[in-house]
Amino acid sequence: MSAPLLVQVELGSRGYPIWIGAGLLGDAARWRSVIRGRHALVVSNTVVAPLYLQRVRAGLDELTHATLILPDGEVHKNLDCTARIFAALAELRASRDATIIALGGGVVGDISGFAAACWMRGIAFVQMPTTLLAMVDSSVGGKTAVDLPQGKNLVGAFHQPSAVVIDTDTLSTLPDRELRSGLAEVIKYGALGDSEFFAWLERNVDALLRRDAAALAHAIEISCLTKAGIVARDETEHGERALLNFGHTFGHALETATGYGALVHGEAIAIGMLLAARLSARLGRAGVADAQRLAALLQRFGLPTALPAGADPQRLVDLMRLDKKNVSGRIRLILWRGIGHAEIAADVDEAAIQQVWSEG
Ligand SMILES: NC(=O)c1ccc[n+]([C@@H]2O[C@H](COP(=O)([O-])OP(=O)(O)OC[C@H]3O[C@@H](n4cnc5c(N)ncnc54)[C@H](O)[C@@H]3O)[C@@H](O)[C@H]2O)c1
Repeated sequence: MSAPLLVQVELGSRGYPIWIGAGLLGDAARWRSVIRGRHALVVSNTVVAPLYLQRVRAGLDELTHATLILPDGEVHKNLDCTARIFAALAELRASRDATIIALGGGVVGDISGFAAACWMRGIAFVQMPTTLLAMVDSSVGGKTAVDLPQGKNLVGAFHQPSAVVIDTDTLSTLPDRELRSGLAEVIKYGALGDSEFFAWLERNVDALLRRDAAALAHAIEISCLTKAGIVARDETEHGERALLNFGHTFGHALETATGYGALVHGEAIAIGMLLAARLSARLGRAGVADAQRLAALLQRFGLPTALPAGADPQRLVDLMRLDKKNVSGRIRLILWRGIGHAEIAADVDEAAIQQVWSEG
């Protein structure tokens, strides 16, 4: 097995490695050392556990460990399932040196991280992401949360993992739609801050869609490097980290309006990025050609670039007012100057936002 790629998240005593490579779940010699105590709880779900749980459990031999298999889907990223994790930790007699291992996509990662942040005021957790979206985004950076009926990610904590173990072999079983969803977040890194990477993506659409191992590993590495750099400079989102939300204020409104599940996260973000680019052009911040180039790339990856039928622009603007980034009731958005140059825009004109939704 060749040595994995390593990206280090530089956060002093809370810093951690991100390993990226084929076969890493079965390579416990690589990740076992980050588990310091004697107790481990593996949290996974009904889809991922039958595929990959055994590889992880094989590496936990000399520990006291247990597994909790949650139902699949965003609707289960809630407090009920968090309580089930607490119950499993109690049954394991997990003390403050216990570790939670999150094996799955962003849903499993977010809920496991949140439980780890709360149990005895914070225990270690290791992310083992198995979707592209979780590999390039949700497993890195320490944002953890669960949803309430009133809204997504309303209850959460910043809690950094001890390590992120990205086994690229797990992508072989990922459905096409979920792969494309992750690619939307990959495109985001090029769009917000790296025009060279954006151009690399334009040249490598075919390789990525046919899951070429080297192309995927490179895309994951650059995405993790970008996110790790931003998180190291602004861990709790007082400034630059907000740029990672490029397309997300539009996207989250769309996810809420259409009901979670109609669009997968990356699809909503694809449309959201395009609307942010079009709004930037409308406001004279960026050229129209950049928005067109973004639309072309999204389309080549099979991502949606138009609003689903029946979306109501007024309701979508109302939903944007609830976004966590807003300050004093004014809509704060991430817009851009063009490919590779996102920026925070405060107090954006609501009429212009509504216009962009209407044309979407
Ligand atoms: N914490 C953060 O910074 C952050 C960032 C972005 C998104 N998120 C969150 O991440 C979640 C979305 O994550 P996601 O897109 O990974 O969704 P997900 O976890 O629901 O996974 C998508 C689907 O793929 C299945 N799956 C996972 N790995 C698989 C594999 N290797 N083979 C086959 N099937 C597999 C899952 O069971 C699920 O059905 C949302 O809740 C979102 O809020 C968090």
